[in-house]
Amino acid sequence: MKKSRSWVRWAVLTWFFALVGLCPWETVGQRAPDVPYVPTPYEVVEEMLKMAKVGPEDVVYDLGCGDGRIVITAAQKYGARGVGVDIDPRRIQESRANAEKAGVTDRVRFIEGDLFEVDIREATVVTLYLLPDVNLRLRPKLLRELRPGTRIVSHDYDMGEWEPDDVVKLPGPTYPHTLYYWVVPASVEGTWRGSMKTASGERAFTAAFRQQFQKLQGSIRLAGSPPAEVSEGRVTGDRLRFRTRLNVGEAAVPVEWEGQVVGDTIGGRVRVLEGPTAGEQEWTARRVGRGLDRGGGRGLYIRVPTPVGGSAVGPMPRLTSGRGVVIFKLAFPHVL
Ligand SMILES: C[S@@+](CC[C@H](N)C(=O)[O-])C[C@H]1O[C@@H](n2cnc3c(N)ncnc32)[C@H](O)[C@@H]1O
Repeated sequence: MKKSRSWVRWAVLTWFFALVGLCPWETVGQRAPDVPYVPTPYEVVEEMLKMAKVGPEDVVYDLGCGDGRIVITAAQKYGARGVGVDIDPRRIQESRANAEKAGVTDRVRFIEGDLFEVDIREATVVTLYLLPDVNLRLRPKLLRELRPGTRIVSHDYDMGEWEPDDVVKLPGPTYPHTLYYWVVPASVEGTWRGSMKTASGERAFTAAFRQQFQKLQGSIRLAGSPPAEVSEGRVTGDRLRFRTRLNVGEAAVPVEWEGQVVGDTIGGRVRVLEGPTAGEQEWTARRVGRGLDRGGGRGLYIRVPTPVGGSAVGPMPRLTSGRGVVIFKLAFPHVL
């Protein structure tokens, strides 16, 4: 569905129903769909499922499932389980009939409902063929509910500043298609205390990570050294990797870090690439303070110094002002 084409179809459909005075969503008491029904061609469905590397262990959710073709194909050809959600009862009826015909009713189910309200936490793969503004409205829910490592494939539309991890362009049977792919990143934003093993024993460090979706920035301060900037930082599912420079004697040598995030802990390997201490060591870290979230739409945060030292982080409070003074109350602060 090309952008212009989809809007034209939507406009034509709306005009048609207005003209005949027949609004199908009102007749069944549902709100109107956010996106018109346009099925993904089967060739493109195949590519979407391949891009997400769907297999028998997966639970594929198609949000706005139309006639159910994506989850039915995922079950039939890749042995996955599938859940289709559509707000239009006619689509759900079609989907159930198609699942019967395909002999996959034991592996797929269809929910008549609003994709913004359905619980999607069990999904390991989410497929979308919506519209740009709908993707943007859905983005906070995807980041909040989906587990790190969940794959998302969107037909034709991206997610704004959440850059895709991969993009594939296809000629398609009648017009070109673009597929966008993301892996839901773990949340690593915040302050971490850790240690790494070196030839001369354990070295403690503090890491401050800032995260924008899968992109990671920040700094690491090893005890007795100035802070080193994090570069090329990336979070893919529950894995993170980044580079810093490490002071070894007079020289600063490049270091590669990789780790696995499990809630508020990270464990991994750090590789010193040059110099007398070149080699691989283990590192671990524990989160001691949370900062901004990973873009999941939990609102703005504020950081303020505290009278006892350090700083406090909490949700942006409501501000009141009077006589040139701004007063605010910080709820549930994390003191770093
Ligand atoms: C472009 S079609 C895509 C159908 C299918 N996913 C495919 O790729 O073949 C979009 C579908 O989303 C459904 N839809 C639109 N808004 C929705 C909402 N808020 N909740 C659930 N489904 C919705 C429409 O009824 C329509 O079937």
